[in-house]
Amino acid sequence: MASEQPQEPVQPSLQTEENQTLDIDEDVVHDDTDSAYASSIAGTDSHTLSSSILAYTYENGRRYHAFRDGEYMLPNDEAEQDRLDLLHHIFRMIAGGTLYRAPIAQDKPPQRILDVGTGTGLWAIELADEFPNAQVIGTDLSPIQPSWVPPNCLFYVDDAESQWTYEPHEAFDFIHGRSLCGCFADWPKFYRQAYRNLKPGGWMEMQEHACWVQADDETQEQAAWVTEWCSEMDFASRKFGKRLNVAHEHRAWMEQAGFADVREEVHKVPIGTWTKGKKLKEMGYIHREEMLDAVEPFTMALYTRVMSYSLDQTRIVIEGVKRDLKDPKLHLYVNYHFVWGRKPEHAPF
Ligand SMILES: C[S@@+](CC[C@H](N)C(=O)[O-])C[C@H]1O[C@@H](n2cnc3c(N)ncnc32)[C@H](O)[C@@H]1O
Repeated sequence: MASEQPQEPVQPSLQTEENQTLDIDEDVVHDDTDSAYASSIAGTDSHTLSSSILAYTYENGRRYHAFRDGEYMLPNDEAEQDRLDLLHHIFRMIAGGTLYRAPIAQDKPPQRILDVGTGTGLWAIELADEFPNAQVIGTDLSPIQPSWVPPNCLFYVDDAESQWTYEPHEAFDFIHGRSLCGCFADWPKFYRQAYRNLKPGGWMEMQEHACWVQADDETQEQAAWVTEWCSEMDFASRKFGKRLNVAHEHRAWMEQAGFADVREEVHKVPIGTWTKGKKLKEMGYIHREEMLDAVEPFTMALYTRVMSYSLDQTRIVIEGVKRDLKDPKLHLYVNYHFVWGRKPEHAPF
């Protein structure tokens, strides 16, 4: 068992939310069922494309993409799609309702936009609605996007780890990726390809949650299941070759690839309603639901395939972690990073 410390080093240069503290609501200790917040969760209804060329693998009751062995560790089934739609809602709430933080429409509206690893495509669909004159392209290993989409939104099956083959006249004004932790073995290569496929002056934005649950007080030690799990998941994902806990590294990767004016925001998002404040409570409630849905898909493949735990052992860990996440006495949260930068105007095209 790895006993690594949280992979979330203090970053003194963060632009905002630097010393964000989450105030504890002392009344939330015993009952955390939060029926008042349940109504704020939108139901999701994903219509998936089907095709005879789809190849899926079924394992431990979940459906996985089977493009290439060991390509991606999370399932792509309906339950996972529902989780992604919930996560979309969380990212929007954190960003104050917006889909992006980069000033993409400051000079002139973007014409061509790429969403890498688009998942259920919600981000791409909503951005296509916001910029009806732009073409928005979403790519993913899995064709799990809906078929009824705005006419300026297109989805393609594509592996972003392979060589990007866009022609120079197809360069983008904006490239976006969200929640892509665990997707790529070589992140600097991903950033180099994105940089190359942007127009000079074009923007890139990455939105990513840490894969590390933490607390700022003594309740960290009481969250034994969660703490051990984070450490083990980090170890397992490194062994798999696609690290999960990379959110705090995007800024450096973006700068190394040559991006200018790189900025980063980090937001602490509580798990549960233990914080003060209506907005944080609502966000914490939804976040905890999403986290509870995430534990099994994140853990199953890494624990059984990579770490060779038995199914029973894995299930015990999953239940222990969920118990910690539901415990209102624990002041747990996850850091969400928004990082954006611009390809310099003078950059060769
Ligand atoms: C956690 S989901 C995030 C989806 C979406 N960006 C969102 O925020 O809802 C990660 C997505 O990346 C896709 N993915 C994983 N590896 C990929 C690769 N090499 N190329 C393209 N997509 C990939 C997965 O199929 C999955 O849909």
